[in-house]
Amino acid sequence: MASFTTLFTILTIALLSFSCSSQFILPIQKDPLTKLFYTSLSIGTPQHNFNLVIDLGGPILWYDCNKTYNSSTYTPLSCDSKHCPNDAGCTSCDGPLKPGCTNNTCGANIINTLANSIFSDAFSDNEPLKNLPKTSKGILGLARTQLSLPKQLSLSSHKLPQKFALCLPSSNKKGLGGLFFGGVPQKSSFSKFQLTTIPLIINPFSTAPIFTLGEASYEYFIDVKSIKVNGEVLNFKSSLLSIDNKGNGGTKISTMHSFTLLHSSIYKPLVRKFVKKASDRKIKKVASVAPFKACFDLSTIGRTNAGLDVPTVDLVLQGGVEWKIFGGNSMVLVNKKVACFGFVDGGKETRTSIVIGGHILEDNLLEFDLVSSKLGFSSSLLLHNARCSNIIT
Ligand SMILES: *[C@@H]1O[C@H](CO)[C@@H](O)[C@H](O)[C@H]1NC(C)=O
Ligand SMILES: *[C@@H]1O[C@H](CO)[C@@H](O)[C@H](O)[C@H]1NC(C)=O
Ligand SMILES: *[C@@H]1O[C@H](CO)[C@@H](O)[C@H](O)[C@H]1NC(C)=O
Repeated sequence: MASFTTLFTILTIALLSFSCSSQFILPIQKDPLTKLFYTSLSIGTPQHNFNLVIDLGGPILWYDCNKTYNSSTYTPLSCDSKHCPNDAGCTSCDGPLKPGCTNNTCGANIINTLANSIFSDAFSDNEPLKNLPKTSKGILGLARTQLSLPKQLSLSSHKLPQKFALCLPSSNKKGLGGLFFGGVPQKSSFSKFQLTTIPLIINPFSTAPIFTLGEASYEYFIDVKSIKVNGEVLNFKSSLLSIDNKGNGGTKISTMHSFTLLHSSIYKPLVRKFVKKASDRKIKKVASVAPFKACFDLSTIGRTNAGLDVPTVDLVLQGGVEWKIFGGNSMVLVNKKVACFGFVDGGKETRTSIVIGGHILEDNLLEFDLVSSKLGFSSSLLLHNARCSNIIT
């Protein structure tokens, strides 16, 4: 039997080697099989290393502590603590006392959106770890919640600003990416990149697998106004881009999907336009490779600094700001000869019309500011001959 613990006290965390005076930095790696991103964290006394999957939309940090796991510095959060959300349950346990088995403890649900169930407390198999990389033992959630790590670190004695920056590596071959609590580190090789800032918007309706009625979504939404391919606006029902009075529609960012999911009514015209623009450039289409529809003969595609030389996909945001997506982020090499347009049809019944996935975020620097509710993005660092994986050295 496995027991699972949510980490409410940051006192027991010793962040890995990179921490310096006012910044907390965690290394990020990409799992080649699941294409999910994970970090490595030492937790407890004595310290144990846990690999945890980075989930931008995850509400808490949780990890699997097995039968033998114990920690002398584990401090459960009591149910009456001001840090325990009002709607959280209060848990108890028959003992023996250890992490995952304490009395009067603020409860939280263990959520893994890749396993189709919700868990609370102890259970009899590894179901909560389903579909995570084999070496991962839990999830580090970064969502806009009271219990997520960015919020907890800002409340702790470290008093970090309520910000975090994320630089996801496209591969682990050249090094590690980074998660920076407190925001983009000043005086680092990162601080030279100009970030374009857009509002993060709040979906007033929860998008979580479990929630209290009337609760807003704690995931990160942005306001995409239109989509262009090589500068040409795509035609589709634009109401799909706004959040309706049931919380459907809109655009969110998720690291639990590798490829961006689009509502069918956006996906179809996007693929059509992309194929047309690609064919104008004499890029040769070949047979589809699932889950992608538009695939091309790699030998007919040129190269640029920012990856394969294909038509750009531009997300037009509030104020006309554009997030340009170049070949390095839009294309996926499925084998040595074929590259596919890396967007996936999410169907007609999707709750959120656009779910921006991890592949588009790779080698981009992103900064989430939870106080001003803003997202800063760099666009592709490849344009500056930089990568997320050569910034932490
Ligand atoms: C239990 O977890 C600890 C900490 O991760 C690890 O060192 C130990 O080998 C694990 N034991 C078993 C039986 O899996
Ligand atoms: C776990 O550690 C705590 C504190 O050191 C101790 O009181 C408790 O008995 C231990 N529990 C088990 C099951 O070993
Ligand atoms: C929790 O309280 C109950 C009732 O007082 C007790 O039997 C149990 O051992 C306690 N559990 C732990 C882990 O201390």
